[in-house]
Amino acid sequence: MTSRVIPVDPFTLVVFGATGDLARRKLLPGLFHRDIDGQLPDDGRIVGVSRGPLTVAQYLDLARKAITDHVPAADYSAAQLEVFLARIDYVTADGDADGGWPDLVACLQRTPQLVNVFYLATGPALFGPICERLGRFGLAGGTARVVVEKPIGRDLETARMVNDAVGAVFPEERVYRIDHYLGKEAVQNLMALRFANGLFEPLWNAAHIDHVQITVAESLGVEGRAGYYDHAGALRDMVQNHMLQLLCLVAMEPPAKLEADAVRDEKLKVLRALKPIDETNAAHNTVRGQYRPGASAGGAVPGYLEELGAASSLTETFVALKVEIQNWRWAGVPFYLRTGKRLPARVSEIVISFRRIPHSVFDGQAGPIDANRLVIRLQPDEGVKLWLMTKDPGPGGMRLRSVPLDMSFASAFGVRNPDAYERLVLDVIRGNQTLFMRRDEVEAAWTWIDPILQAWAASPDLLRSYTAGTWGPSAGIALMERDGRTWLEDGA
Ligand code: BG6
Repeated sequence: MTSRVIPVDPFTLVVFGATGDLARRKLLPGLFHRDIDGQLPDDGRIVGVSRGPLTVAQYLDLARKAITDHVPAADYSAAQLEVFLARIDYVTADGDADGGWPDLVACLQRTPQLVNVFYLATGPALFGPICERLGRFGLAGGTARVVVEKPIGRDLETARMVNDAVGAVFPEERVYRIDHYLGKEAVQNLMALRFANGLFEPLWNAAHIDHVQITVAESLGVEGRAGYYDHAGALRDMVQNHMLQLLCLVAMEPPAKLEADAVRDEKLKVLRALKPIDETNAAHNTVRGQYRPGASAGGAVPGYLEELGAASSLTETFVALKVEIQNWRWAGVPFYLRTGKRLPARVSEIVISFRRIPHSVFDGQAGPIDANRLVIRLQPDEGVKLWLMTKDPGPGGMRLRSVPLDMSFASAFGVRNPDAYERLVLDVIRGNQTLFMRRDEVEAAWTWIDPILQAWAASPDLLRSYTAGTWGPSAGIALMERDGRTWLEDGA
């Protein structure tokens, strides 16, 4: 159970790409969790749409398997599963052709609801064609809203094309661009931490913060997604969206209210204040790597090229960046970002590293005095740690030690942390855009990313190799060490 639930309005959620990975792994299990927690109203309906000529019964089998595969059996009863399945319908329709669309219209007319949500869990090539049909078949009016997944484009130009195609049918206030990192519990806690406590805000600036580190490390490789990934790479797949969003939430000014546009205005200002990285400084401020065969906890693992099944590729699976924000609050405070596949662990965290004390009153026996750090752990165990210097207990003089004030959300609240998609899908039904990216944000992020991509294209030799199961190329470590700083893993 989660702590407190308020049911949403009656809705119909239409999922395009209903047999795909996202629907099976995240959307159906997420909605099921919300259902058993009592958050779906009786009139909450889900309509799966895909090209596959399935009967409703066949789709229900797929949905049942999605739930039993991804939700622990101890969490629900057979009766609850049947109640959930009774909400589901299925229509065969092609995003790219008109076949099946009259059936979809008829299905939606049978049980009209207050809110219609169209979730495009498909490749981005279908966003335009599906939106165009939603418009032409009269489904895009009223309060109907559309949800699109990344990747939104592969550069500024293609992002604009996608946004134009969606925007031709849906006004911006009914477009929900998902970045699932914004739905993570710890990411939202970052806002609570910053804006519901008087303690941090006075210190949240260049006078008191030495630097910020953001790490999103994954232990898995590209697995079955090599086809998509090889056209994307870590910069497009993780930095343009998830990591820049995290950076924005750390760096933005307090919005006047926790309202969608107030928050998004502040994030946009951060994106626009990022110091450009281009051919003149990319070699100094960026590191890109690709994993070769190595080892993980489970034994030997193949390299990226083996997973891809190709002799060569210039796609990066690791990136580290030194980013600067050119504004009054952050001048001179580097933000170090790194993300990669096949790193030693799955761990995502933000480290706010405060400045050292200006003068020590302790003698040499006390030991080194570490700078305070605030660590916001996104995964695996979401929580916050504030590292403070304390005295080692007992007699024997004053010896100092860095010890964390430690809050794990799971143990502090004794509740299951909902998956990001559970919250985000319900936010769409509620009509709350705060945790979704606005068009100008996405395009501002691409405006900053494009010159890095161009610089890399001009210097392919900058791609370094790293052994799978390590923390990336040594240049990624040197990126910080040369500034006299070190990547910190929690507890280090
Ligand atoms: C996705 C990327 O957006 O995020 C994947 O496309 C990545 O490559 C995933 O693995 C990471 O998400 P999470 O929630 O598992 O950290």
